[in-house]
Amino acid sequence: MPNKEHWENIYEKKSDLEVSWYQESPTTSLQWIEELKLPKESCIIDVGAGNSNLTSSLHDKGFSNLWALDISANALERTKAKFSVDADKIQWLVSDILNLEITQRFSLWHDRAVFHFLTQETHINRYAEVASNHISPGGYLLLATFSTSGPKKCSGLDITQYSELSMQKVFEPYFSFCKSMVEVHNTPSGGQQNFIWCLFQKDGVHSPDSTQQENNRKR
Ligand SMILES: C[S@@+](CC[C@H](N)C(=O)[O-])C[C@H]1O[C@@H](n2cnc3c(N)ncnc32)[C@H](O)[C@@H]1O
Repeated sequence: MPNKEHWENIYEKKSDLEVSWYQESPTTSLQWIEELKLPKESCIIDVGAGNSNLTSSLHDKGFSNLWALDISANALERTKAKFSVDADKIQWLVSDILNLEITQRFSLWHDRAVFHFLTQETHINRYAEVASNHISPGGYLLLATFSTSGPKKCSGLDITQYSELSMQKVFEPYFSFCKSMVEVHNTPSGGQQNFIWCLFQKDGVHSPDSTQQENNRKR
């Protein structure tokens, strides 16, 4: 399982500030999640949670049904260790997202900088199918990937870049598109990476406001 070995090795050797994707505060994720006005007991999963502070931030905001999934056990151990209390209230799941073997359905599936590591069409389509199978009717899929002006690699691995259109092509067979936004992520080492954020809803009706594309460029 070379992909797993790669990620276990990264989290064994590198600190938070030595990995390009790290954010002290996952601001955009938190803003978009807040706008969804989900009940605090909603079931939320962070896919490829890695060393992200999203799960602990959502826990601090009172969300009580949180799942953090990653292919790397080292990543989740590190994130778990950051909790001073309540780490045992989070569902920690070590799994390759393409082989997800749970029956749980989620109100929100969050993925920042994970989906873009899939470069084979069969894997990309399998991801969309797995997400669709695990999101409740009316639930949301919130994804951030490198944009067409973003990096071509991350952590030494090839990635797939996305535009709003190419994201829609992958996910619209299962979801309704709600909105997108491009964002520049400032890496801990002082670099910049262009991301595109997309929100989709499963079998859902979304308000006209949310269909408006937000081309806010954050710096
Ligand atoms: C670039 S990091 C992003 C981490 C986190 N989402 C964030 O925004 O800080 C990518 C993460 O995806 C995980 N990952 C990569 N491929 C995966 C897969 N097939 N299934 C589950 N997790 C995966 C890695 O272990 C890593 O933690």
